[in-house]
Amino acid sequence: MAREFLERKGLEEARLEAELLVSHSLGLNRLGLFMALDRPLSSEEIDGARDLLVRRGKREPVAYIIGQREFYGRAFRVGSGVLIPRPETELLVDIARERVAAMELDVPPRLADLGTGSGCLAVTLALEIPEAQVIAADISPEAALQARHNAEALGAKVEVLEGDGLACLLPRGPFHVLVSNPPYVMRSEEASLAPEVRDYEPDLALFAPQDDPDHWVQKLLEALPDILRPGGFLLVELGASQGPRVLQLATRMGYEARLHEDLARIPRVLEVARGE
Ligand SMILES: C[S@@+](CC[C@H](N)C(=O)[O-])C[C@H]1O[C@@H](n2cnc3c(N)ncnc32)[C@H](O)[C@@H]1O
Repeated sequence: MAREFLERKGLEEARLEAELLVSHSLGLNRLGLFMALDRPLSSEEIDGARDLLVRRGKREPVAYIIGQREFYGRAFRVGSGVLIPRPETELLVDIARERVAAMELDVPPRLADLGTGSGCLAVTLALEIPEAQVIAADISPEAALQARHNAEALGAKVEVLEGDGLACLLPRGPFHVLVSNPPYVMRSEEASLAPEVRDYEPDLALFAPQDDPDHWVQKLLEALPDILRPGGFLLVELGASQGPRVLQLATRMGYEARLHEDLARIPRVLEVARGE
């Protein structure tokens, strides 16, 4: 029944989502749900599951309804006001880990995350590189709160600052690696966004300042000599069409830069080296 309801609402992953939502409302995992299939449900249980399915039918993202999303193998709490972590963002963690491992430092690596949202990048980096000192910043109070919660819940040592990213991080630099997944969507793209994104995720996390998708890349490149240590790296997540443009921007400013593709072969990350 739950599956058919979501199918009628046009949701492609109806079966998986129905299982996730019903098991969540019953306080079970998916295996527990299968074990309980023969058990009759109380009217409260039916009402509880129905409420969650109705929310999903209105296209609220599953992650907000169940309050969590997995990133790099760990469960992050997410709520409205905070971007839901995306799988492609994990690429930033992979690259940052490789760069830090190759640095052969005799001091703890210092890492920064600008626009931390749920804290998925900062917390994951702190856990994957335990010797690192990680500082994260977000202008949104909800995001800063959520990032602090996730750091504590997952046992990561991350200092989370609330305020404008560069203004917060510059006085705390320079860093060996700065990662950022900044807002890069243009207003002209708004109508083409999925309702889950357009109607539920925060504008502040989605839309580029001044409607310029390259705004943050430009700002970070200008700040690069001050914010990165010699030999340090800047890693920025990009929108699907930004790659060639921002690569040119970085190389024209005299930096060694390259693009990394995600699994869909989209140039997803700009990597810029500060040079020695
Ligand atoms: C695309 S989301 C990325 C969130 C998270 N890092 C992730 O990858 O899931 C961009 C984040 O940047 C934050 N942000 C927007 N403008 C900012 C600013 N001026 N300074 C700091 N953070 C900002 C938003 O609040 C949002 O959390």
